[in-house]
Amino acid sequence: MRMSGAFIVFEGADGAGKSSVCKRVAESLTAKGFEVVQTAEPTHEGIGAFIRSGSAGAISQRTEALLFVADRNDHTERIEKDVSEGRIVLCDRYFASTVAYQSARLDGDASDMDWLIRINDEFIDRPNAIILLDIDPEIGMGRVGDRGEEISKFERLDFQKQVRANYLYLAEQYGFDVVDASQSKDEVFEKVMEIVEKVIE
Ligand code: TYD
Repeated sequence: MRMSGAFIVFEGADGAGKSSVCKRVAESLTAKGFEVVQTAEPTHEGIGAFIRSGSAGAISQRTEALLFVADRNDHTERIEKDVSEGRIVLCDRYFASTVAYQSARLDGDASDMDWLIRINDEFIDRPNAIILLDIDPEIGMGRVGDRGEEISKFERLDFQKQVRANYLYLAEQYGFDVVDASQSKDEVFEKVMEIVEKVIE
């Protein structure tokens, strides 16, 4: 049995299917005897819970970005501990979410990508793999709608398209593993498991 842990991140625009893939990978690894921790950002504690509550009100994207990084700082400490104790940490969103989302333009407010990378840099760990579930937002947002959530407006679709383009740029720059998330759920899962197995073997 593997003794050292691993830190694997899942990224993607809304509706890419991250949370269900994460869950399936966690179940599969657990069944194989690995100790798995499933986690997500924004977290559900401290600053993460504050972000999710919406209590911050109408803040700028830069301020919001700093909150995401603050949440990540505490989260990273917990991840480090889990990995050092031999667990496989599956994390739904990490620093690339801040870079991809907070640099996308919403209501004319957007942050500079280089600044977003810089503010993250000091507080993050390098994941063993960053898996980008890539999907055309027209398909991804359709899925969100299918789940009975808010129907996408044109603005929202445009925002998601920017997020996708930002992710693809980051994937190229940082060597993320890109998986075509428009494939069937089984195909996506198999591709993701191939990547995960390479990391933990
Ligand atoms: P999440 O709960 O992962 O939503 P979903 O399940 O739909 O993917 O994330 C909530 C939102 O927060 C999502 O739209 C992305 C956004 N987000 C940022 O804008 N920046 C960040 O740094 C993070 C972690 C999330």
